Amino acid sequence: MAKKIVLLPGDGIGPEIMESAVRVMDQISKSFNVTFSYETADIGGVAVDNHHTPLPQTTIEACKNADSILLGAVGGPKWDNIEVSKRPEQGLLGIRKALNLFANLRPIRVYKPLVHASPLKSDRVEGADILIVRELTGGLYFGTPRERRDNGNTVVDTLQYTREEIKRIMHIGFQSAMGRSKKLTSVDKANVLESSRMWREIAEEVSKEYKEVELEHLLVDAAAMKLITEPKSFDTIVTENLFGDILSDEASIIPGTIGVLASASLNDKSLGLFEPIHGSAPDIAGKGIANPISMILSVAMMLQHSLSMPKAAEVIEKSVERALDEGYHTGDLDMDGKVLNTVEMTDKIIEFMR
Ligand code: NAI
Ligand code: MG
Repeated sequence: MAKKIVLLPGDGIGPEIMESAVRVMDQISKSFNVTFSYETADIGGVAVDNHHTPLPQTTIEACKNADSILLGAVGGPKWDNIEVSKRPEQGLLGIRKALNLFANLRPIRVYKPLVHASPLKSDRVEGADILIVRELTGGLYFGTPRERRDNGNTVVDTLQYTREEIKRIMHIGFQSAMGRSKKLTSVDKANVLESSRMWREIAEEVSKEYKEVELEHLLVDAAAMKLITEPKSFDTIVTENLFGDILSDEASIIPGTIGVLASASLNDKSLGLFEPIHGSAPDIAGKGIANPISMILSVAMMLQHSLSMPKAAEVIEKSVERALDEGYHTGDLDMDGKVLNTVEMTDKIIEFMR
C-alpha cells in the first residue's frame, strides 16, 4: 500500500528544497520498491494568502490522515507586520500542537568534509556528534497569558510546564542517550527559573530508570559557551522549547552551515513531522541556490523514525556524505570543491543513491 505523505512546502526556499525531497523520495521508491502518495497542503504565509489563516483546518485534517509529513519552512518579510496570532510561524506552532509533536530531535553531525567548512578550529569539531532533544509543545512559546497590558506599556509571556510534559520529554532524552553513547546533558536555568528547578528535579527522578546513562546538568548560558568551545564534550542534550531553539541554531556553527541540519518532530505514535531546522531564508529565496541537504536529511529521518525504512535512510545519508566528500556543495558552505545550485546538488546526491 502506498505510504501517504503530506507535503507542506511553505514559504521562501521551502518549495525549492521540497522539490529536492520529492525527487529523492522518488528514487527511494524505485530502489526499495515502495510507493509514496503525495498530498500538498498550505501552511504559513502561503496559507495566510490563500486562506486568511496560517493553518487551515484542511491542512490539519490532511496531516492527521497521513503516514508522515514533510515541511519546508514558513515565514518571510511579506507577513512581518500582521498581528502575531496570524503570523506564518503560528501555523508551525499550531500543527505541532494539533498533532501533539512534543519531541523534537535535532542531530548535529560533522560529516568529515565539513570539518574545514566550520568556522571553528577543525580539531575541535572533527568527530562531533550531538543530538539535541528539544521539548516542542510547551514552555514560553505556548504558555498563557501572553499579552500587552497597561496601554501597551507592560508585556507578559508565560513559561509554563506540567510535570507530565517534562517527564515525557525526559524519557525521550534518556532513551535517545541509551541508543547513543549513554551521556545525557540536561540544560536549564535552575539558578533563576522555578520551571527549571522542576525540570532538574524531574531529570533526577527519571534518571533512576536509566541507571546506565550518565546525567549531567548544565545552565543554559554555560551550555551555549561550551557548545562552541568543546562540542565534542556533548552527546545527547535534553532541554525546554526556547533553549532548544536557540542552542540548535547556535550548534549549526559546528558543521559550518544551518543548511545541512534536519529535524524530526514526534508524538507518542508513529506520525511525525520532518523539517529542516532553518527558516525560509528570504535573503536567498527565488535564486535556486539553497542547500537542499537539510531537507534531504529530513527525508532520511522520516524513513528512519516514521516509516521503518532504516536502510533507505542510510542510503540517503551515505550519498549526501559522498557528494560532500567529493567536494560538491552549495554556496553556503565555505569549502574547496565545486559550488552547485539546488537542483545540481540534488542531482549529485540522487546519482550517488543509484
Ligand atoms: P533562516 O534560518 O531562514 O536563515 C538564516 C540564514 O541561514 C540566512 O542567511 C539564510 O540564507 C541561511 N540559510 C538558511 N537555510 C539555508 C539553506 N538551506 N541553504 C543555504 N542557506 C540557508 O532564519 P531567518 O532569516 O532568521 O528567518 C527567516 C524567516 O523564517 C523568518 O520569517 C522566520 O520567522 C522564519 N523561520 C521559520 C522557521 C521554520 O519554518 N521552521 C524557523 C526559523 C525561522
Ligand atoms: Mg529556530
